Amino acid sequence: MAVAPSGLENVVIGPTAISCVDGDAGELYYRGYDVRDLAREASFEEVVWLLWHGDLPTAAELARLRGELARQRVIPHRTAALIDTLARIPAVPMAALALATGMLGVDDPASRSVTPSDELQSALLLVARYPTIIARYERRRRHLEPVEPPSNASTATAFLTMLRGSPPDPVESRALDVLLIVHADHELNASTFTARVIASTLASVYAAVEGALGALSGPLHGGANERVMAMLEQIGTPERAEPFIYGLLAQKKRIMGFGHRVYKTEDPRAAILREVCLEFAQHRQHGRGWCDLAMRVAEAVWQARHLYPNVDFFSAPVQHMLGIPTDLFTPVFAMSRVAGWTAHVMEQHAHNRLIRPRAEYVGPPPRRFVPLAARG
Ligand code: SDX
Repeated sequence: MAVAPSGLENVVIGPTAISCVDGDAGELYYRGYDVRDLAREASFEEVVWLLWHGDLPTAAELARLRGELARQRVIPHRTAALIDTLARIPAVPMAALALATGMLGVDDPASRSVTPSDELQSALLLVARYPTIIARYERRRRHLEPVEPPSNASTATAFLTMLRGSPPDPVESRALDVLLIVHADHELNASTFTARVIASTLASVYAAVEGALGALSGPLHGGANERVMAMLEQIGTPERAEPFIYGLLAQKKRIMGFGHRVYKTEDPRAAILREVCLEFAQHRQHGRGWCDLAMRVAEAVWQARHLYPNVDFFSAPVQHMLGIPTDLFTPVFAMSRVAGWTAHVMEQHAHNRLIRPRAEYVGPPPRRFVPLAARG
């Protein structure tokens, strides 16, 4: 038996046709399409179809998906009631999303089936309903009435409308649409790997997504974006960026939003979101400050450690400028990544084998039992 390197670094555990990360070249492909092309030309809904079905949708397929997502955005009463309860207690939003996911499964008759058609239906319900759940949670905890899902809006427009109570402008919608595109899938990151391990036991899509949410919530993974925003707010001005970063590094602290297990050059998603940040800031007067600050931090980290920003770094100022509360940044990440997680669950179930690695035992050698009376 071969002993894998710690963290399974560079260990290939099996095939996938869903996405490909070229860490040396700094490239990401969804079903062969470059994420830069998709961010420039496609919508999040086209990417959802691509991840699930293997190719870009025709106009008719896209219209059908958009219509179905819009129809399914209304959440069942029991899930709504659960969200309203959780919003009244200081729950962590990612924990609330995981609990709501379980309740969505209770209300989804297809949730106990692992047939491709039933799983696709459950996947669609999750992508459709996450924006409603996250927006409802936010409005309820601010003692505001929830906003009904708009009847025929994109995921990005529907989410911002339900969050704010009024529709966003096209620039804001497109900024979030691109952010959702670049977060949708990323090969076997920790949360997607978690989803596949759970799916390999033939557990349901909902069980796999609940586990993936737990993995994503950690600060070394999807939880980093919230900590990036807290760091930017703590730094405050571009002039303070360099001393702040050097101070963190002197304490051997990790700089949130930087470094990556796979990318040895710039994360293409960080480059895309940096452009979104700059373009969006020009559109919004007050936004420029956050971009300038983020750019200076990135410069300081590069100077100090030659580390590149990852997807979480520029995601933070973009979400902040969209008016999304910081502790909802990771749920927004999940709102997109649930498309990738469900694609991987369906791929796992299509060619399943239980994922069960071994461990290298380093405990005590076999020894005799010691009765309680003899243990002093
Ligand atoms: C995501 O896997 C994916 O695909 C994830 C993701 C996706 O789309 O699903 O891309 C999304 O999770 C992005 C990553 C978000 N996390 C963070 O931003 C947290 C901060 N980053 C790090 O903790 C770290 O870079 C990791 C966890 C992302 C990767 O860590 P590795 O591969 O285990 O690398 P390592 O910890 O062994 O570090 C290697 C060296 C070390 O130096 P030495 O101790 O060997 O001298 O690089 C240094 C580290 O100290 N280093 C950092 C650093 N990241 C690496 N030093 C300071 N700050 C950092 N952020």
